[in-house]
Amino acid sequence: TRPVRVPDLRALKERGERLVMLTAYDGVTARIFDEQGVDLLLVGDSIGDNMLGHRNTIPVTVDEMVVATRSVARATKRALVVADLPFGSYEASPAQAHATSVRLLKEGGANAVKLEGGRHVTEQVRLLTRSGIPVVGHLGLTPQAENILGGKRVQGRGEDAADALLADAVALADAGAVALVLEMVPAPLAARVTARLAIPTIGIGAGAGCDGQVLVWLDMAGMADWAPRFSRRFGEVGAALAEATRAYGAAVRNGSFPGPEHTYGE
Ligand code: KIV
Ligand code: NA
Repeated sequence: TRPVRVPDLRALKERGERLVMLTAYDGVTARIFDEQGVDLLLVGDSIGDNMLGHRNTIPVTVDEMVVATRSVARATKRALVVADLPFGSYEASPAQAHATSVRLLKEGGANAVKLEGGRHVTEQVRLLTRSGIPVVGHLGLTPQAENILGGKRVQGRGEDAADALLADAVALADAGAVALVLEMVPAPLAARVTARLAIPTIGIGAGAGCDGQVLVWLDMAGMADWAPRFSRRFGEVGAALAEATRAYGAAVRNGSFPGPEHTYGE
């Protein structure tokens, strides 16, 4: 099967085909998601709260993103691998964004990067695009701005906030963004943005009117104790892993494992 590449994104939108995106933080899971036809794998900075034991995404480093991205990219054959630019690694200047992104492509093997924010990061998007680095935008609830926003709340409610979000979306697309993640945005606003842009929108808590959908894989697969209202558990992987672990421990303790078939003679 042919790999998903950046020009395919607009083409899929034009054909009305929905894009499937999922986070991945390592090659073990990325291989499974890729084999099941997930179009875009996001090495999200949500690795911070989902894998690394942090409370949010703020502490995630570029080095951590490089390691995770490399693991995902090496295991992926078809999906487009998008790596998040972590907090503090792109906001200060286009040059800073470029230096970080180059690491994620050269050392990590990413195909594209994602950054949070609207009109204040369009210069970053412009330079990256000119430099051959595709950029995915991210508007609405932007977790890296948690200390400003004051928590995980729906964004873009009310006419002024909706107009501002739409203006940010148009500015990102004009600057060269190849897709746009919309997180925790009222469905009618997400649909309005989707209708306005030629690039695909990818929703998470943004309703069914987007061109695609993304979820954190632990929420999708039933690995998380708690998941946001906009998520759905499509499996019980956590319970399956717990059961395998319990069975292994019991077999070791009762002496049924290892058996003769697992044992080498002289
Ligand atoms: O880091 C992440 O997982 C994300 C998605 C929620 C879009 O940015
Ligand atoms: Na993220």
